[in-house]
Amino acid sequence: MTTEPTPTPAPKSMDAIMALCKRRGFIFQASDIYGGINGFWDYGPLGAQMKKNLREAWWQDMILNPAWGQKGPNGERVKCVPVETRIIQHPKVWEASGHVGGFNDPMVDDKETKQRFRADHLRGLYTTSIPSEEMTSAVSAVVSSTANPKVNIVPRATVIASTEGEAVEAIKDKKLQKLLGIRSIDEPFTPFPEMSFWRGKVNFGKGTESVTLEVVPIETLKAHASTVPSPFTGKPGHLTEPRQFNLMFSTYIGATATEDDKAYLRPETAQGVFLQFKNVVDSTRVRIPFGIGNTGTSFRNEVTPRNFTFRSREFEQAELEFFCHPSESVEWYKFWRDFRMNWWKSIGLAGDNLILREHDKDELSHYSQGTSDVEYRFPFTSPGFGELEGIAHRGDYDLTQHQKHSGTKLDYFDTTRGERLPNGSKKGERYIPHCIEPAAGLDRGVLALLCEAYTVDASRPSPELLKLHPRIAPIKAAVFPLMDKDGMPEVAEKLYDELFAKFGKTGFIEMDAKQSIGKRYARMDEAGCPFCFTIDQETLTAQTVTVRDRDTGKQERIGLDKVGAYLGEKLGA
Ligand code: GAP
Repeated sequence: MTTEPTPTPAPKSMDAIMALCKRRGFIFQASDIYGGINGFWDYGPLGAQMKKNLREAWWQDMILNPAWGQKGPNGERVKCVPVETRIIQHPKVWEASGHVGGFNDPMVDDKETKQRFRADHLRGLYTTSIPSEEMTSAVSAVVSSTANPKVNIVPRATVIASTEGEAVEAIKDKKLQKLLGIRSIDEPFTPFPEMSFWRGKVNFGKGTESVTLEVVPIETLKAHASTVPSPFTGKPGHLTEPRQFNLMFSTYIGATATEDDKAYLRPETAQGVFLQFKNVVDSTRVRIPFGIGNTGTSFRNEVTPRNFTFRSREFEQAELEFFCHPSESVEWYKFWRDFRMNWWKSIGLAGDNLILREHDKDELSHYSQGTSDVEYRFPFTSPGFGELEGIAHRGDYDLTQHQKHSGTKLDYFDTTRGERLPNGSKKGERYIPHCIEPAAGLDRGVLALLCEAYTVDASRPSPELLKLHPRIAPIKAAVFPLMDKDGMPEVAEKLYDELFAKFGKTGFIEMDAKQSIGKRYARMDEAGCPFCFTIDQETLTAQTVTVRDRDTGKQERIGLDKVGAYLGEKLGA
């Protein structure tokens, strides 16, 4: 029985979101005046403040008041401490962690154009004349043979994309259509229920043909590198076989720059925590179970950085390594998985665009008893989802590896365990703690929040607005004198000073007296400012101001002396 695919709303325009980000100073291409540098992005004034707000929300809810003060599975308040570790560590760290040997992506080159992409991002566009009932067997046939005469599937063209949704979007591009020989898309591509391929109807010039869009598995590409058409030239035989490419950036320490001086830029912040686990236990009063958080820049030499900041070569992570007794680890894993999902919801990602995806058993590393991803439906992955945060049960893998490679004991003596001694104390138990790791990406977080907040309301004179959560919004409030007369600017200035003193630490407070009030509201809506306070004639007589809600456009009057309390309550500050 086939099930109807769940209808999803049309994705928002990434071009429009990127244009707004540049226009309003959220995100700029790094080295923009030199033409940019692929995979690197800078934040402008609003973006830098927004990202800081996200980082601080994480710090507040994961370190200072972890899990909002909830009790963990052990019945006690969750405890966490921070560290700040370096980007460059001893090169042996990355051998121990497995990054030197195993942190690879399969890479394919176009021999003619020298362009490079990830083999596992390759999607194929195939023409087929098979009736839909036979599709299931046909697709398994294409995996084993791209030239199976029985099912009559022939590779026609290829598109680089990391998800089918992205490939479907790419095919709508007129330039790409020309390259692929597509005259028109007669029936849009839709997901085939419960299968990882899409079907649509396309005209290549000889009438409408049914077409499937399917991942080219790496093995197939190896076997058929000569027949799969290059996504860049459309010609078969132009692709190299996939080769493994290590994602770590390397550098040299000191002036001599020999192989002995080679070091790596960290590909994750997590390892810094494992390296300092013993020092943290020895220097503080934290006892198992507890977490150590680490935020900072990580680097991955991604083969194909793409989708705005989603896959960058330099990005920021916020990772918590939570250490616990092995017998309690599954409970803690579930605790953090659920909390992290709720946390993203609390800052504005609630709704159908956010899901928690539990990995299947065969996706897990041998040491893991569970991994879940918090995934967001980005416009470029829609109707599919992209990873925002991974929550992994890492067992004792990392501490064991570093103990082995460094020769330093990293076990933990737990005085609360073991049999009771005659003097009433416990005998104690020595073990390597298990680790639960909620690993979030702050740049992906900013991107997801921007995509979710981006709204087009055609009924407004300036239709684009950002419905950012007040905690995340870079501008917290704006004060407008309606007119430049009758003492309104002076009252506005006073209110601005008050709000600045109270909330200036949480984000920008703006004062705007230029142009019409409608234009000022529109400017603030587009920047995601949640509240605008306007000083008008009535303020002068009745000591009240209007407060306008960005999302509804509705206005209400509140007392001038109540504005601080009103904003404080809304910002949770
Ligand atoms: N310590 C585990 C770890 O690093 P990961 O899933 O590779 O796990 C965690 O990374 C998070 O870091 C991801 O969920 C994502 O938000 C972010 N991230 C990873 N690679 C990224 C990239 N190239 N660009 C932007 N963010 C990235």
